[in-house]
Amino acid sequence: MLIKTKNSWDLTENDVTSESSYLSRRDFVKAAGIATVGGAASILSPELAFAEPALSAKSNPYDGRDLRGEQTVIEAVRGYNNFYEFGMNKDDPARNAHTLKPEPWSVVVDGHCENKGKYALEDLIDFNNLEERIYRMRCVEAWSMVIPWVGVPLSSIIEKLSPTSDAKYIYFETLVDVEQMPGQRRGIIKWPYREGLRMDEAMNPLTIMAVGLYGEKLANQNGAPLRLVVPWKYGFKGIKSIVKISFVENEPNSSWMRLAANEYGFYANVNPNVSHPRWSQAKERRIGDFSRRPTLMFNGYGEQVSHLYEGMDLRRFY
Ligand code: MTE
Repeated sequence: MLIKTKNSWDLTENDVTSESSYLSRRDFVKAAGIATVGGAASILSPELAFAEPALSAKSNPYDGRDLRGEQTVIEAVRGYNNFYEFGMNKDDPARNAHTLKPEPWSVVVDGHCENKGKYALEDLIDFNNLEERIYRMRCVEAWSMVIPWVGVPLSSIIEKLSPTSDAKYIYFETLVDVEQMPGQRRGIIKWPYREGLRMDEAMNPLTIMAVGLYGEKLANQNGAPLRLVVPWKYGFKGIKSIVKISFVENEPNSSWMRLAANEYGFYANVNPNVSHPRWSQAKERRIGDFSRRPTLMFNGYGEQVSHLYEGMDLRRFY
């Protein structure tokens, strides 16, 4: 995620594709005691490979079987993060997010729906029906990962909440609490972090609310205990540590639209043909790879989602 002012977090594409990310992956791999990237079990560190999975998940038609051999090492998934509530650098969240208390957790639901109220996490998420989804994730900064998420379809939550016909969009907010999220002492953005989806995007079977990854509960830095995952959109749509869901009639403003509307649109669909105003989106570097690969339209999920945008000028609605 990048914003217009020139700061330490304002990396260029060159910065994020530097050799250091390659070397750091070699270090991750070395630490995990493996020589090459293999299947899911082989890229877990030894302790993790033998740990009892904290979450059990069933497979589903969208589980991304073909991506199993490409999963990003867990150390990178947990160590290279954007979560500005805990600092601006990629290693800040892993270092600082221990102050977040993800249990107990509740979510307020309001707006155009029949079942408004304050829900305990366990009443919103069916922990007996979790699914694993291995998704390609593409960050707007032109790097990417492949992550085995554990969660439920967002549609299953929405159905429980019974939105009315006035609900055209769903809007999410992250916790605001400077004790738990010390980065909020800095007014980098107007807290809370906010994101939204059109209802048909939210109901698409690819969209999930994640509570875990790699078979374990989400680490705080990944957005514990509840975060959005929308694999055909740039990573910043994946709002973390959600405490509020609202059903609204008009297109809501996301945090990044408020900050730099010319750089970050509401849709944020991965699109190699529409450049960020300051760099190309045509290629990406998978964390752990040395060379770059072409970015896929809708991050490779066009078959499932391109119909949502039929007739829309994607240069205008970026
Ligand atoms: N959610 C909140 N609340 N705060 C943030 O700063 N960063 C976003 C998104 N969700 C962010 C957030 C961005 S820019 C990205 S790329 C993803 O989280 C990163 O998710 P990850 O660190 O779990 O890979």
